[in-house]
Amino acid sequence: MDAYAPKKEDKFTFGLWTVGWQARDPFGDASRAALDPVESVHRLAELGAYGVTFHDDDLLATESDRDKAIANFKKALGDTGLEVPMATTNLFTHPVFKDGAFTSNDRDVRRYALRKVMRNLDLAAELGATTYVCWGGREGAESDAAKDVRAALDRYKEGLDLLCQYVLDKGYGIRFALEPKPNEPRGDILLPTIGHALALINELEHPEMVGLNPEVGHEQMAGLNFVHGIAQALWHGKLFHIDLNGQHGPKYDQDLVFGHGDLKSAFFLVDLLENGGYEGPRHFDYKPLRTEDAADVWDSAAANMRTYLILKAKSAAFRADPEVQEALRNSRVTELAEPTLAPGETYEDLAKDDFDLDKAAERGFHFTRLNQLALEHLLGVRG
Ligand code: GCO
Ligand code: MN
Ligand code: MN
Repeated sequence: MDAYAPKKEDKFTFGLWTVGWQARDPFGDASRAALDPVESVHRLAELGAYGVTFHDDDLLATESDRDKAIANFKKALGDTGLEVPMATTNLFTHPVFKDGAFTSNDRDVRRYALRKVMRNLDLAAELGATTYVCWGGREGAESDAAKDVRAALDRYKEGLDLLCQYVLDKGYGIRFALEPKPNEPRGDILLPTIGHALALINELEHPEMVGLNPEVGHEQMAGLNFVHGIAQALWHGKLFHIDLNGQHGPKYDQDLVFGHGDLKSAFFLVDLLENGGYEGPRHFDYKPLRTEDAADVWDSAAANMRTYLILKAKSAAFRADPEVQEALRNSRVTELAEPTLAPGETYEDLAKDDFDLDKAAERGFHFTRLNQLALEHLLGVRG
């Protein structure tokens, strides 16, 4: 029995656009044939995935008749038992979206974009999705002269408020999840980070209906710490969904297999997701390398899940290790959970402290030891 074989309970999900990516990039043509979504559903189910997610347009990869495409997809879901926990809209491929969708300077485009989302929301609800992702890849600019950012944020809010109202009026059990990204395809994208998106949510009519779908690579492209971003999203109760993949620091969006970028960050991320109260799907949003052939695609899909499960086992071993527990105490990591003032104390009580400044300044925190223990667990020489 393979300890790292994925099971339905692991809640692994994949976008149809991930395994189906034909590997067209700005410099080269497709290196793989189009994949029938029906085949993707069957292959993902065989690999042990729990669910599949899609953009409206993904369903039309090999069948241009929308009704037929939906019927085929539904049949594949029924045959395999795969769930659809999340869906999203393609508001970036068609050239009409070249200046954005909800925030295009062209008002007609903004109206079309909202219609496109509403149409796919109906399908998402019918398929039982509870999360609807909004990735605004084209919402942005290359020149500060080209976009009135304050007006654009008004339009972003207007669009999201309208979509929330639509969901409420229809009685759909759907919440929205905004996906931040700093750049690519636009020179600068609106809502570039988790923090920017959280701030916008507070200004909406229905903030409780809108949360986040952060992606590993997107924060790391901006040089930010993804684990800290996820911890803050959890702290705000806003981690509605997550896009797992890999990235090597600030460069173009690599969308590597999960763990194939910053592995240590992936380890601490799994540790946080498994122990931080996140119960949603573990959704992989990666792109099989352009060098890979049709069979390699399925190896890469399996690699995401296997890596996650290996890291989950490493995290459990790390936490169970008595030396780690002692190191955590020595580093006072657990002491941070204790409120700075005791119950009933006020700022006046601070004056009563018998505090030796020099002695406190001398105390080391021994964080290197902790980090080394994590590294050794990850490298497989402990536990
Ligand atoms: C990216 C984005 C996209 C979105 C997806 C949902 O890699 O830049 O993550 O993959 O997540 O298209 O709209
Ligand atoms: Mn990405
Ligand atoms: Mn994504």
